[in-house]
Amino acid sequence: MAKENKGFDYLEYFLKYKEIIPEFDEFLEYLEEPHQQYFRINTLKVNEEREKLLLEILKNKGVVYEEIKEVPYFYRVVNNQEISLGNLEEYQLGLIHSMTLSSALPVIALDPKPEELILDLCAAPGGKSALIAMITQDRAVIVANDKRLDRLTALSANMKRLGVTSIIITHYRGELFPMGISFDKILVDAPCSGEGRYKVGSEGELLYQRGTGRSNLPSIQKGLLIRAFDLLKPGGILVYSTCTINPEENEAVVDYLLRKRKTELLDWPSPFPYTPGLTEWDSKPFHPNMIKTKRFYSHKIRAVSFYVALLKRVE
Ligand SMILES: C[S@@+](CC[C@H](N)C(=O)[O-])C[C@H]1O[C@@H](n2cnc3c(N)ncnc32)[C@H](O)[C@@H]1O
Repeated sequence: MAKENKGFDYLEYFLKYKEIIPEFDEFLEYLEEPHQQYFRINTLKVNEEREKLLLEILKNKGVVYEEIKEVPYFYRVVNNQEISLGNLEEYQLGLIHSMTLSSALPVIALDPKPEELILDLCAAPGGKSALIAMITQDRAVIVANDKRLDRLTALSANMKRLGVTSIIITHYRGELFPMGISFDKILVDAPCSGEGRYKVGSEGELLYQRGTGRSNLPSIQKGLLIRAFDLLKPGGILVYSTCTINPEENEAVVDYLLRKRKTELLDWPSPFPYTPGLTEWDSKPFHPNMIKTKRFYSHKIRAVSFYVALLKRVE
């Protein structure tokens, strides 16, 4: 049963998504659960042999975890309420990195490989850049860009902690990222309203609510996506992701790119259940291939809701 609301009317807020979110009541109930913590073994610092030892140490420190079979090196903290991963010495030493499970999905779609030149256009504080570095064994060249210097400071500290060396940090508004270098792959993990992170507190108040009310988000997102496309090599790969449910920030943004540039939506094998992207919202039709984009809902994956689109620049 959804909680009686005493503050922001979260029920009314999410009601607009009733038709698009499967098992809507379960979704509302899941909003009342605290954020689930996950960690990934930092394979740049921990080899297979030491992984077992590290897991043993974490267990002895009271961390009850469960392996996520679908995504290598990922673990779910079972005693979520009792543990704060950021306080563990192993976290501070960079042996583990904490990130919500769904944050891995755009990187899985990007499928980064050693030797590729990869741009992470909105990279701070660096969770996905770090994962790209780990998957490529620190053998790609990753340009991690963000427009906020304070967040880039956090990114830089994260890379140092995790021992990532294949990253170049840049500080541009993504829409104005200099042309001249073309990339094999680009990730646009866009600034968004963050609805996928919202939770409901004990008084029925909406928690983690940051971006609502910023009505210019879709135009920022469109500007970022267009620039990212223009920075791709012919045949290059582009991933657009957000942690919001709002179709105006998801399918409508991707649809805009499809109308403005020669690009193709691709399918990709998802390790987790998803709902296909929408082909219509608010009586506006989107490109039929939008079903190749993926919506991940928090109650289905026990992590922040995410939207992921994989695109290819047509040669
Ligand atoms: C969803 S967060 C990125 C999270 C990051 N990818 C990670 O995995 O840690 C969005 C980021 O976009 C940045 N941002 C907002 N507007 C931007 C712009 N116009 N150009 C570049 N970055 C921007 C914000 O500062 C924020 O760090």
